[in-house]
This record gives sequence, structure tokens and C-alpha cells, in this order.
Amino acid sequence: MKIGLLTGGGDSSAINAAIRAVVRKALDEHYEVVGIMQGWRGLVENMMEPLTMRSVSGILHSGGTILGTSRTNPFKIDNGVDRVLENLKAHSIDALVVIGGDDTNGVAHRLAEFGVKCVGIPQTIDNDLPGTDYSIGFDTAVEVACDALDKLHTTASSHHRIMILQVMGRDAGWIALISGIAGGADNILIPEIPFLLEEVVERIEMRRRLGKEFSIIVVSEGAKPLGRQEQFTASERRDAFGHARLGGVGNWLAGELEARTGYESRITDLGHVQRGGSPTVFDRVLATRLGVQAVEMVKNGAFDQMACMCRNELNSIPYSEALAGIKTVDMQFYEMAMLFY
Ligand code: F6P
Repeated sequence: MKIGLLTGGGDSSAINAAIRAVVRKALDEHYEVVGIMQGWRGLVENMMEPLTMRSVSGILHSGGTILGTSRTNPFKIDNGVDRVLENLKAHSIDALVVIGGDDTNGVAHRLAEFGVKCVGIPQTIDNDLPGTDYSIGFDTAVEVACDALDKLHTTASSHHRIMILQVMGRDAGWIALISGIAGGADNILIPEIPFLLEEVVERIEMRRRLGKEFSIIVVSEGAKPLGRQEQFTASERRDAFGHARLGGVGNWLAGELEARTGYESRITDLGHVQRGGSPTVFDRVLATRLGVQAVEMVKNGAFDQMACMCRNELNSIPYSEALAGIKTVDMQFYEMAMLFY
């Protein structure tokens, strides 16, 4: 058995921990592993190298991915799928383990129609893949966001300002919700629920009446005010999966809140800081478990499926279910957070 391993889409911490686990478990099963560089691009352009015990030594705690990543979509490239199939054959690769979010795993699912055997590992800081409680990278991102909120709190209260923290989260507000609860945010704005500016202003005014002369707001990049059709974008360009680069909601909000409340308002866009650095203990262990599980799935012939973890138990879920939609924020959880505004 020869496994091809690739990492695609936006990176996050703990991907290397998953790579290490796949390689270690595969070698334990006496399988060969070949690393495919730069996500699906490596399969289109034939960029591969063997992965050994040595290649994965010392990477458990490091962020990023030793294989590199890209947002390449073979289905959007002339002869892209044919080239993928040729390269798989040329390297005698029997099965692929694919680490990524919905786009990367979506390609794997479509390739099943062409006879390619794939197993997925959920990896996205957005934590929006259905069928798994957690995706690799989310916990570390939340830790980074919570740390930022703690730091913003002190300067907000010293200056009597509104501090807005813009975090990632294209269609699901998990990072905003969990970091906002842990960091004591006074408003959490998420893509799932268009917000009413007047309500945000009212909460700030309520705090003023209580003698609290500052507010902390955490907003997902994909959030928008009620009545606005489009998300705020930082650029017109779209990637190979049709996604625009999001950005701007925090700045817009700062302008509006400053004008309406008189408080100076400042925005911190956490950006890609959320995706880097050393992974948390939780992410390292999750990545390790999912990596081992993915090789078990290859061994058992559980293809066209994604490894997952629900209620702390490892399992697998058909791609047709894992890619059927987006795991949005639990509304009961969100409403609980509002108790603390
Ligand atoms: O898909 C995960 C994600 O982190 C999104 O939350 C964000 O919109 C996007 O990646 C940003 O990606 P890029 O690295 O292309 O700027």
C-alpha cells in the first residue's frame, strides 16, 4: 500500500502533528507514504517526495505544514483531473489522505467518481465542517483570539474606548463565539445572524449607564448588518473555489459606533496570526488521533469518507454528509453568550 498525503486550503496550527501521525501509523502498518507538495497543485504538477520517519521528526509542535499548501482546484485547470490521475498512476499511489477544509475535501469527494480513493482529515480554523465536533487548528485560533481580547480589555478600560476585534470566520462564527465567551466580550457578531447596529449601540449605552466606559466587541469577518446583502470584502479577486477575500466589517463598525456613541473606536484585525504559531495541547492530540484514524480508514477501505471526532470518540463520516453544508454556530450557545453582554 502506498499512501499519498496532501494538505490544502488555508493552513492552521497542528497540521504537522497530523502529518506526523499519518506517517508514523502508516509506517507501522508497513505502508509507504509520499508527500504531495502544495496541496492539489502538487498532484497536477507532479511535485512529490517520499515521507520517512526522519521527514516527520521534530515537527509535532510547529505551525504551518511541511508539505506546503495552496487553494488549487484541479477541476478549474485545463486537463487538471487527467494530470492528477496520470501522476497518481505514475507514482503507484493507491490511496490519498487529504488534510483540509471543505474545498480541499470537496475535490477529494469529486475525484471518487474517477476511481480515486481518498480519506479526509478535517482541518480549518473556522471549525465549520459538519460531522466532527472539532477541526484541527480551531482550538489554537481560539486561544490566540482570547489572548488578544485579554490584551484589548486593559487598553479599552484605560482609554474609555470601544475596541473591536475582527476574527476569521467566513460563514460560521465559531471563533468569535468561543473566544468572545472566554474573553468576556460585550458583543459577539457572527455571520449566521445579521446584526442590528441600534442593538449594538444600545448595549454600549447600557454599559455607560452602569458606569462602564468601554466596550469590547468581537466580530467575525463574515458578519454583516441586517439589510446588507453582501459580506464586506477586501478585494474583488476570488480564489479557485469562488471565495472572495473578506475584510472591512470591523472598520465599518468602528466608524458607525464612534459616530453614534461618541466613544473613540479602534479595530484590531487579528488576520493570519490566528493561523500560525505552536498548536495547543488539544490541537496536537486531536491532530494525532485523526491522523491515526485516517490510516485505519485506509486499512479498512473506508474511502470517500472523512475522519471525525464526536463526543471525544473517533469515527468516520461519508463525504456526502461531511460536505453537505456548513456547521454553523449552535443558537442556544449563542443566546447563552448574550446573557453576559
Ligand atoms: O478558510 C479558512 C479561513 O481562515 C477563512 O476564515 C478566511 O476567510 C480565509 O481562510 C482566509 O484565507 P487566505 O489565507 O486566503 O487569506
